[in-house]
Amino acid sequence: MRLLSIVGARPQFVKAAMIAGAVKRYNRNAGSGRERIHHKLVHTGQHYEHKMSGIFFDELSLPKPHYHLGVGSGPQGQQTGAMLEKIEKVLLAENPDVVMIYGDTNSTIAGALAAAKLHIKVAHLESGLRSFNRRMPEEINRVASDHLSDLLFCPTETAVGNLRREGITTNVFKTGDVMLDAVVAYREKALKRKKVLKKLNVESQWYVLATVHRAENTDSPERLSGLLQALAELNFNVVLPMHPRVRDRLKDSRELRPIAKLMERSRRLRITEPVSYLDMLALEAHARLVLTDSGGVQKEAFFVAVPCLTLREETEWLETQADGWNQVIGTDPQTIRMAVEVEWQRNRVGRNEQPDLKSFGDGRAADNTVAALARTLA
Ligand code: UD1
Ligand code: UDP
Repeated sequence: MRLLSIVGARPQFVKAAMIAGAVKRYNRNAGSGRERIHHKLVHTGQHYEHKMSGIFFDELSLPKPHYHLGVGSGPQGQQTGAMLEKIEKVLLAENPDVVMIYGDTNSTIAGALAAAKLHIKVAHLESGLRSFNRRMPEEINRVASDHLSDLLFCPTETAVGNLRREGITTNVFKTGDVMLDAVVAYREKALKRKKVLKKLNVESQWYVLATVHRAENTDSPERLSGLLQALAELNFNVVLPMHPRVRDRLKDSRELRPIAKLMERSRRLRITEPVSYLDMLALEAHARLVLTDSGGVQKEAFFVAVPCLTLREETEWLETQADGWNQVIGTDPQTIRMAVEVEWQRNRVGRNEQPDLKSFGDGRAADNTVAALARTLA
């Protein structure tokens, strides 16, 4: 079977690395009589800086892509259109049996559209997620991708239910979450990685880890400056690995200049370039608290038993809200300050409290996915 994975953005490299590993294991155990899977990778080039792309391939042993389309940044239509055109050419040359798409980025929808129109089967990993907020580009990408897909791999029961409500019930598989697989595989290694903490001058359990990158939080200067000001004025050390989207906004927007200065002056704020996956996992696992608008980071905080405050109006990852581990608090600066104070004092990390992870599977989601894929397409 010829399987072609299409990736382009940071979280997709983590997910594809898990699938690539599972394909290898499947082939190793294939023995006689079972068809092997020939897996190729296409990188759209949506993310291209080393710290947003290459570093993940090196660290997670993800083989170099067979095709690098070099699409780069741009407005939604331009970026997605360029991907569509280039992916189509690859699909015509490769004629795979199935295309696997990951998550909810522009690379996801471009892959789904290109394959579906060429009558190539589409398998969607991390299918069925919904925020029910159509103002998010990711929500449009997810809904459209799911409706173009032939095989739908859901990380959670909520995702399966969302698809059912939209009438999608055939070839839907609840596999568990491949990002839990990654945490299970790398957590111990990451926990020992204290160098990044030293470099940022923070101690285990004595800092807040923050990330911000969502369009809804970064595209409005008012909202972004409120958020960044709240981070700069917290009474605790804050580590902020800065997404290039935010870096570029701070550089380009006159309105954000005062906030950039405030951030520079802050003695508690530790701003860094994007960090590698293992360093990020280390920073998550050693934090007392995570503040984020990222989907992946919300889940990883849950997986490493660190409470999360989500800087959005809703979350797709309802299971992380169990027992208050993830609280959706929005972006009002005053609310952020108060919520951080409360969670800091509560100190669930210091008390060694543990969430129940079973709603995200058993850490073998990638193997489950590959097995279901092979079974269904046999
Ligand atoms: C994209 C996804 C988002 C995902 C995120 C993961 C879409 C619509 N959004 O958002 O769902 O959560 O990736 O990180 O697909 N840039 C660089 N260097 C890079 C990459 C980006 O400088 O290597 C800057 C550019 O200014 C670019 C901006 O970041 O315009 C945004 O990049 P883009 O890929 O369009 O969206 P993300 O915000 O990264
Ligand atoms: N991540 C990373 N370095 C960083 C920030 C995030 O390795 O500086 C990882 C994070 O651990 C997770 C993934 O990138 O595995 C999440 O990506 P992101 O937050 O960009 O996107 P989302 O999950 O919101 O789509």
